[in-house]
Amino acid sequence: MLKGRTIVLGVTGGIAVYKAADIVSRLKKLNANVEVIMTEAATEFVAPLTFQTLSNNVVHRSMFNEITNYDVEHISLAQKADLILIAPATANTIGKIANGIADNLLTTVVMATTAKVIIAPAMNTKMYQNPIVQANMEKLKELGYEFIKPAVGKLACGDYGEGKMAEPADIVDYVISSFVEKDLIGKKIIVTAGPTIEPLDPVRYMTNHSSGKMGYSIAKEAVDRGAEVVLISGPTSLEPPKGVEFLRVKTTEDMLKAVGRYFDSCHVLIKSAAPVDYRPENVSSTKIKKKKGTDEIIIKYIKNPDIAAYFGKMKKNQIMVGFAAETENLFQYAEEKLKEKNFDFIVANDVSKEGAGFNVDTNIISIIDKNGEITNYPIMDKTRVARIILDKVKYLLEDKG
Ligand code: PMT
Repeated sequence: MLKGRTIVLGVTGGIAVYKAADIVSRLKKLNANVEVIMTEAATEFVAPLTFQTLSNNVVHRSMFNEITNYDVEHISLAQKADLILIAPATANTIGKIANGIADNLLTTVVMATTAKVIIAPAMNTKMYQNPIVQANMEKLKELGYEFIKPAVGKLACGDYGEGKMAEPADIVDYVISSFVEKDLIGKKIIVTAGPTIEPLDPVRYMTNHSSGKMGYSIAKEAVDRGAEVVLISGPTSLEPPKGVEFLRVKTTEDMLKAVGRYFDSCHVLIKSAAPVDYRPENVSSTKIKKKKGTDEIIIKYIKNPDIAAYFGKMKKNQIMVGFAAETENLFQYAEEKLKEKNFDFIVANDVSKEGAGFNVDTNIISIIDKNGEITNYPIMDKTRVARIILDKVKYLLEDKG
């Protein structure tokens, strides 16, 4: 994902240095070239050898090393960097950068670069809230430096509060999204995700196996590409992606109402959710008890509204993308749904195939256009599926002008 990118990771002196090792390892797994610069204080916490081994590169520490080649190190690192990430960033380093001080290799490289600089602060709460530190950060933000907000939690010093460095996974996510082209700015996209649930009584409900992974991947990709995203999700165990407006719903009717609140103002509706089609006609207010003398229970189900079909009839200029989850006659059923629900295109997945559909990280899809053209894709991560869907959405949006 980050193949061909050089990320210069500045590591400054704080207990969160050990977490920076995880960042390097994650970036390397994504095929980035990672060049680590450690300040002297950082080397007091973790030995440079750790970073050297994880990054497969020599760790840069000083401006005044013995010359081994004719590159001027701070200039060559500053030019080589596609992005500079400082994690953890101390109040001291933030203060130096904000005030134009370049007294070590890291601050000098930052001064000499034209690459984007992302800073993940880590410090004691009182230090973080200190007006001088806050003013330094504000100044840097105005100059285009980006900050990854520290988390609230128990700090190494024993205090509880804001100042804990963001988690390595979130920092790496931020880095990835910085490389994504912001080609959906100004577009409002509603994504529905996950299952819905239909209660039978206070303890039982009807649902399906949707985990929300497909829809959440689409929402994340869309927000990374600059879209304004409303994610409407049934019950899932997933964390909503940062930057989305998130609405949690339970039933299919709830989902219909939630989409209705945003539909008029949206450019795109992507229906990746798996809403339950039928609900029990009567919902008992108390737990249904086992009846003596009978081995069966008969529950009458009535049809739920079809959200996609409802908005398919109402749509004006919106692009609507549907999904078809099938276990047989994939193309026939998907094409019928494409027409019936007035989708602009439909993503068909045979959920009986291994690696496709419900509750897995991958999917195997075919996209069917309005004119019946079918494009088949091999098994791939849901993140890549999301990218393909949004590329197609972007193309259709451009077509509409
Ligand atoms: O969530 P995951 O675990 O990642 O799984 C992903 C997925 C299998 C749920 C996803 O890839 C998918 O196929 N989503 C659509 C599931 C579904 O309900 O398919 P369907 O063929 O029953 O419905 C066709 C379309 O109509 C879908 O866009 C659906 O959102 C929509 N629909 C269905 C029923 C209903 N009452 N209202 C609707 O809007």
